Amino acid sequence: MTTQLHDKTVLITGGTGGIGQQTALGLARSGAHVIITGRDRARGEAARTAIIQAGGNPQVDLLLGDLSSQAEVRRLAAAVGARYKRLDVLINNAGLLEATRRLTVDGVEAHFAVNVVAPFLLTQLLFGLLQHSAPARVVNLSGGMPQVQLDRSDLQAERSFRGLSTYSKAKAAMMAMSYEYAQRVAGSGVAINVAYPGGASTAMTGAMTPEMLPPALRLAWPIFRLLMRDDRGLSATKAARSSVFLAASPELAGVSGHYYDTNSKRVAWPKAVLDPEIAPQFGSYARQ
Ligand SMILES: NC(=O)c1ccc[n+]([C@@H]2O[C@H](COP(=O)([O-])OP(=O)(O)OC[C@H]3O[C@@H](n4cnc5c(N)ncnc54)[C@H](OP(=O)(O)O)[C@@H]3O)[C@@H](O)[C@H]2O)c1
Repeated sequence: MTTQLHDKTVLITGGTGGIGQQTALGLARSGAHVIITGRDRARGEAARTAIIQAGGNPQVDLLLGDLSSQAEVRRLAAAVGARYKRLDVLINNAGLLEATRRLTVDGVEAHFAVNVVAPFLLTQLLFGLLQHSAPARVVNLSGGMPQVQLDRSDLQAERSFRGLSTYSKAKAAMMAMSYEYAQRVAGSGVAINVAYPGGASTAMTGAMTPEMLPPALRLAWPIFRLLMRDDRGLSATKAARSSVFLAASPELAGVSGHYYDTNSKRVAWPKAVLDPEIAPQFGSYARQ
């Protein structure tokens, strides 16, 4: 049976391409009012038009904002609050994987800023609206190598930086944040879960280089390239399924604080995520 979402409003960050766009399409097809975000108006409008045409649902809006900037996250949240009376689902889908270490305008390492601080801050800023629309859901997207070790003393990758490893650590930190957040807001009517989408050929994977991989994995680069070759959105569509499931499935009513794999199956949190000393540090990276 198809889940019907006709009276639901869903915000998907990074809905202008890749997995986010396919997630937006899946939810638009179920009748949801979908809001996508991105940084570039032309790319965003092209995605919006494609979702409307393929989804047969005109209720698709675009909001712009660079999530690496906390001021822009705040501006985006304010725009959502001013324009929409309800928000049933927030999908923190936008992610970052880059080859070199850089700091954002806020002085935060960019992977940590986009993959951890932005979802945390956006959820905080929109929490009132989500709670007002309860039962509401937040879906955060993991990625990379989830069993990676987190170094509490190097969350900003000052001592050790390598594209995929730093990205994976940031995603593990985001999972720890999500787990902790779900415990803190238990009983609020807002459920928070994490989806692992699985590999997909997208702009993110297309921009990867062998130097981003840990040396031990570089031998597998030709296989990786082959797996990630352009498939016209097929793998992104498959990868969007777990986000759509966590956002919409009636089976998950009231379920919060869990981690789901690419087949939408509940799995155990990676060990590093459950370190009680990790998550409470994250709020300090978001400006008050
Ligand atoms: N692809 C994979 O194999 C894979 C595997 C595991 C997990 N994931 C995770 O799945 C999510 C989606 O990945 P994807 O592969 O679909 O990525 P993608 O194709 O590169 O799309 C990223 C989306 O995020 C937006 N975005 C990127 N940086 C942003 C920023 N600083 N501020 C605002 N928006 C930003 C992009 O919008 P604009 O460029 O239009 O601004 C785009 O809409 C990410 O969280 C990723 O970590 C992906």
